[in-house]
Amino acid sequence: MKKPKFTGSVPEHIAIVMDGNGRWANARGLTRVEGHRAGEAALMDVIEGAIAAGVKYLTVFAFSTENWKRSPDEVKFLMNYNREVLRRRRDQLNEWGVRVRWAGRRPKLWPSVIDELLTAEKLTKKNKGLVFTMCVNYGARTELVDAINQMIEDKGSGKIKGSITDKTVQKYLLTRDLPDVDLFIRTSGEQRISNFLLWQSAYSEFVFSEVLWPDFGHKDLWQAIEAFSKRNRRFGKAVDKPKKSKGSAK
Ligand code: IPE
Ligand code: IPE
Ligand code: MG
Repeated sequence: MKKPKFTGSVPEHIAIVMDGNGRWANARGLTRVEGHRAGEAALMDVIEGAIAAGVKYLTVFAFSTENWKRSPDEVKFLMNYNREVLRRRRDQLNEWGVRVRWAGRRPKLWPSVIDELLTAEKLTKKNKGLVFTMCVNYGARTELVDAINQMIEDKGSGKIKGSITDKTVQKYLLTRDLPDVDLFIRTSGEQRISNFLLWQSAYSEFVFSEVLWPDFGHKDLWQAIEAFSKRNRRFGKAVDKPKKSKGSAK
């Protein structure tokens, strides 16, 4: 894949809510799970596109703590599917120099899925390329609640000395070794966060794409990066630059 060019800087960390699989399938007269199946190629294409663009961290939402509310058949499919995608693709990812990591909670998650995630982490742990985080059984509120409870415990036992700061919180998150999200993308036209990376996206730029996830590819990713590269991120700062009116003296 050729290295793309952008107007401004490339985001270091991109997060994606891969949404729209079910609608993609139903619109074709297929069942929802066929949409998930079609999402695999999109994911691989996006990973390749992120590497080519020079992105350092890519974090994707694969299964939320709320997705257990779906039909038992769909949940079962998604569990098997996550496990199989990892097994099928881990060697390819390893060849690309990708470091795979998992962010999510253990309770409820199938042990075989956890095993597969940990195997992929182990296989790729020395890689120096793209850090690819799969959020499986992830929810930002539980992540924060778990972090708060652990901080209280560690404060009580003296493991945390002094007061709790932004940095302390960061250390207790599932994404503790990742920088803040620069660009947050959601596909399928939905404009909501759905409990993804709340703390980490405090100053993210958002791009909402109308494209349904199975149709999303590296070109759509690059389009979102281009939009990001033209944004003016201020982080609360301000620059005073009054526009000269036509009649004003030079
Ligand atoms: C995203 O697609 C994949 C997961 C949530 C696992 P959806 O399954 O949410 O598809 P839509 O949004 O119903 O079309
Ligand atoms: C968010 O999508 C979760 C994933 C993409 C894994 P959902 O499709 O579950 O979100 P809602 O229900 O539309 O908010
Ligand atoms: Mg959805």
